[in-house]
Amino acid sequence: MRVAILGAGGLGSVFGAALALAGVDVTLIARPAHADAIRRNGLKLTGVRGEHLIREPLTAVSDPKDAEGEFDYLILGVKGKDTDAALESANCLKDRTRTALSFQNNVVKEEILTQWLGDPARVIGFSTIEAGNLVEPGHVHNGLTIPTTNYIGEMDGTLTPRVEALADAFNRAGMGTKAVTNIRQVLWEKLTQICGAAAWSVSCLAGGKELAYPDGLVVPEGAAHYVQVGRDALAVYKAMGYTPQNFYAPVSKLKELDTVDDFDAVEMVMELGRGMQAQGYRGTTSMHEDVRRGKKTEVDWIIKPLIDKGHELGVPVPTLTAAYRIIKTLDTYLS
Ligand SMILES: NC(=O)c1ccc[n+]([C@@H]2O[C@H](COP(=O)([O-])OP(=O)(O)OC[C@H]3O[C@@H](n4cnc5c(N)ncnc54)[C@H](OP(=O)(O)O)[C@@H]3O)[C@@H](O)[C@H]2O)c1
Repeated sequence: MRVAILGAGGLGSVFGAALALAGVDVTLIARPAHADAIRRNGLKLTGVRGEHLIREPLTAVSDPKDAEGEFDYLILGVKGKDTDAALESANCLKDRTRTALSFQNNVVKEEILTQWLGDPARVIGFSTIEAGNLVEPGHVHNGLTIPTTNYIGEMDGTLTPRVEALADAFNRAGMGTKAVTNIRQVLWEKLTQICGAAAWSVSCLAGGKELAYPDGLVVPEGAAHYVQVGRDALAVYKAMGYTPQNFYAPVSKLKELDTVDDFDAVEMVMELGRGMQAQGYRGTTSMHEDVRRGKKTEVDWIIKPLIDKGHELGVPVPTLTAAYRIIKTLDTYLS
């Protein structure tokens, strides 16, 4: 199996490292400093899978024209805002790509890849909760995994050998992965989950450079805001006809949020925050990280789609809309 990862930064490099460790032939298409460091010294992986230095079967290039051969799968790994430029630069790979997919956090990536390849039959859906960040060129940190960390599926809901083969490869790589017939639901539920978390964390914590995710959860007002943002997103998801499944248990709490009253929900969120603090967790959402680093966020890919869907379905989303407006204002001045 040959896999190319277009835009191998934090998460793309984690996937590339794990697949290469499982024997998959991986080509990372990355920024020059990262690609050069990997070619010189190998790719260093740290975090939840232990420490590894991977030299093969792994290749790193900085220009798609230098990616050699044909690819069974091309995985798009840039952030939403960089998608058009990355795909444009990779036009030379179109005829050498059998199937394309992306782990971006949005619900438009499959349509964009379909337009790029000009064929819906060459695109499959993918969703993940795995976490990765680029520590420095050549070194990626894998901060989170859970028992079922990836979902893969055909957009038409069938089960095919190409979906099962990729799921097998991820499972061999130690990433619990399911081939599913309901990938559209998984994608929308993931968006619901992270939309709530991202909208909450940036609208609550953006002003405090040192604040981590749990620091806001343990404040009663912060927890109440979290519950309200989450309830808005969940209301839209349910109006689409879906029932929460907690695909990403134990991280996902959507089923619980759906069943408890406001008082218990706030208590549940504060308890979650206290638990994270007790474990010394100091992380936060990638959207909060973007604001901290002064980089443009994915606000229009992660939050806006649920607001738009709410308007389309007549579901009021006042708290989510307020959070979106705050983040969009901050985002305007990020580069
Ligand atoms: N990281 C996570 O834990 C996580 C978890 C789940 C889902 N996701 C989703 O996965 C996507 C990627 O996230 P990420 O955290 O991996 O982002 P990231 O670390 O910024 O990685 C993307 C990489 O692509 C590079 N890039 C941008 N345009 C490129 C181009 N035209 N050619 C080659 N490389 C290019 C970026 O370089 P520059 O920085 O120089 O632009 C960066 O190194 C996002 O949609 C995110 O929401 C992330």
